[in-house]
Amino acid sequence: MKRHQTCGRCIMDKKVTVIGAGNVGATVAQRLVEKSLCDVILIDVLEGVPQGKALDLAEAAPIEKHDSMIMGANSYEESAGSDIVIITAGVPRKPGMSRDDLLTINSRIMKSVVQEVVRYSPAAILIIVSNPLDAMCHVAHEVSGFPRSRVIGMAGVLDAARFRAFIAMALQVSVENIHATVLGGHGDTMVPLPRYSTVAGVPLTEVLSPERIEVLVDRTRNGGAEIVGLLKTGSAFYAPAAAAVEMAEAILKDRKKILPCAVYLQGEYDIQDLFVGVPVKLGKGGVEDIIQLHLTEDEMSALKKSAQSVGELVNALKRLA
Ligand code: NAI
Ligand code: 2OP
Repeated sequence: MKRHQTCGRCIMDKKVTVIGAGNVGATVAQRLVEKSLCDVILIDVLEGVPQGKALDLAEAAPIEKHDSMIMGANSYEESAGSDIVIITAGVPRKPGMSRDDLLTINSRIMKSVVQEVVRYSPAAILIIVSNPLDAMCHVAHEVSGFPRSRVIGMAGVLDAARFRAFIAMALQVSVENIHATVLGGHGDTMVPLPRYSTVAGVPLTEVLSPERIEVLVDRTRNGGAEIVGLLKTGSAFYAPAAAAVEMAEAILKDRKKILPCAVYLQGEYDIQDLFVGVPVKLGKGGVEDIIQLHLTEDEMSALKKSAQSVGELVNALKRLA
């Protein structure tokens, strides 16, 4: 078994770098090592913060009973050869801010981060988390030059988990019985799909009235803002981290799991050259397939509207460049 030169811990088969050691990034790192999925390099611009959080997590390892190596850094050398890079670097929302308000500052951060990632981990699969999510995926795709199979946005897994949680609360059943699908951009125009959501295999539309479903759909669309309103100093991180780790696990273990993710569409769903959330198959190659659902006219027009709002952000990005 190989051991790391500095910390002497075992080196696992897989290596994941998490950029941004804030709320989402540190929680992602914690879940990755505690699930013994991989070694983790945690990077941030703040001196001492990634090192301190990594050391704290390493000291929890004997109690949590795992041997994953975790290390913090302010530069990218240690990240070299990562299998996956999860990018959470950026500024989160404050009350009154939309995800889109973060466009200017986070696009600059994303650009500089991706340049370093490409230099040290040219074969990595990128999981983008920073907001505004769909626009940040465009920046990462363009700057990296990676194929679309290796640039994947995390939003749909989170939005679907929120929808699932709200359905489970409304019906007083286990979350494990609930499956939900949410398509579109990670914003107010996201498209929760009750017709493709089920309770123990029974379509949601047979279990709840349209009025009750609409309340849950609305709460899902505002799920991020609801948490920002409560926390006041930042945005959600436990569920976002869990969502990013579910995607990473599907890739690391080559699970071929079908999950809603933001992916660069080139004609699928009649959408061209935009990152939009749709169901994809995740395996060791990243996005291995894009699943085409049969949508009604209304569902399709909601998805197109959502794609249009992503397009507007991408145009705003071009004006910034
Ligand atoms: P946070 O403020 O707790 O952490 C962000 C970290 O990024 C900070 O530690 C900061 O120092 C670091 N950072 C800034 N510039 C950097 C750079 N150039 N290189 C490396 N690190 C850098 O924020 P939080 O809550 O962790 O959120 C991170 C991002 O994720 C935000 O943009 C937020 O809006 C987004 N987000 C997206 C979600 C989604 O569903 N896609 C869900 C939750 C958050
Ligand atoms: C969320 O949905 C802010 O995008 C983040 O919680």
